[in-house]
Amino acid sequence: MLANAPIGVIDSGVGGLTVAKEIMRLLPNEKVLYIGDNARCPYGPRPQSEVRKYTWQMARALMKKNIKVLVIACNTATAAALDSLQRKLPIPVIGVIFPGARAAMKVSLTKEIAVLGTDGTVRSGAYEDALKSLMSACHIVQLACPKFVPLVESDEYEGDFARKMVRETLAELNYKSFDTAILGCTHYPLLQGFIEEKFGPSVTVLSSASETAKDVENHLRFRNMLADAKSKPVHEFYTSGSTAIFQTIIKKWLEIDKPVIHSIKFPK
Ligand code: SIN
Repeated sequence: MLANAPIGVIDSGVGGLTVAKEIMRLLPNEKVLYIGDNARCPYGPRPQSEVRKYTWQMARALMKKNIKVLVIACNTATAAALDSLQRKLPIPVIGVIFPGARAAMKVSLTKEIAVLGTDGTVRSGAYEDALKSLMSACHIVQLACPKFVPLVESDEYEGDFARKMVRETLAELNYKSFDTAILGCTHYPLLQGFIEEKFGPSVTVLSSASETAKDVENHLRFRNMLADAKSKPVHEFYTSGSTAIFQTIIKKWLEIDKPVIHSIKFPK
C-alpha cells in the first residue's frame, strides 16, 4: 500500500463532508475520495441490514480505487456496518461514533449527555454503548431528529424555516439538565448554529468530526502511511444522486471553487 494512496470517506449524502473538512484541515497533503449516496439518502429510517448493504457497496467502490484507510462518515452506517467492515477489509476502517463519544467525555463536567441522531442510530444504542464504555456513570438522553437530514440534503439548512424546524424538534427533549449535546449525525453540524441557539450557552454542542480526523491521523502515522509533505492533492467527490446540489454544498462547506465531481451508480 502506497503512502500517497487516497483516504476514502463515505456517507449517505453530504453530511460526511463535515468529517472530510476536518480531515482536509488536519491532513492537508492527503487526497480524499468521497462518496455520498445521495440517491438513497436518508439512511436513518432504513433497516440496519439495508444500510449495511449500501455501506458495503460504497466501501467496495472505494477499495477498487486503492484507498489506504476508510472513514465511515455517517453515524447510521457506522452503527450498522463498522464491525463487519473492520473484520473483513484489509485496511483500517474508522467510524464516527466512538470519536463522538470520546469528544463528549472530554468536555462534559456533569456526565449528563444528550445525543441527537437519526432513528437508526438512536435505535442501535451504539452511542449508549460507546459512552458507557468510556464513563460508566454517565446519564444519556437521546432524541431522533428525522427532519434534519432532508433539510440539509435539500440545501435548506440556513434560513428561518430550518431554525423553526430545529426549535420545534428540540422542544421534544424533556430532560434538560445535560451540559453536552453530541451531534450524532454528520449532517447536523450544518445546523449547529440553530441547535446552539436553542440549547443556550450552558450546553456544549459537539460533533465527532475533529476527533475522527485525529483517529485517521493516528492510524496513518502509526503505520508510516502519511502522504508526502510536498503533495498537493486534488480531492474527488462521487454522488449517486444529483450533482447540482452536491456541488453547491461542497463549494459552500469545503470552499473548493471547482470541485471534481463524478456520478456513481450502485446495484439495486
Ligand atoms: C442519514 O442518512 O439518515 C444520516 C446519516 C448519519 O447518520 O450520519
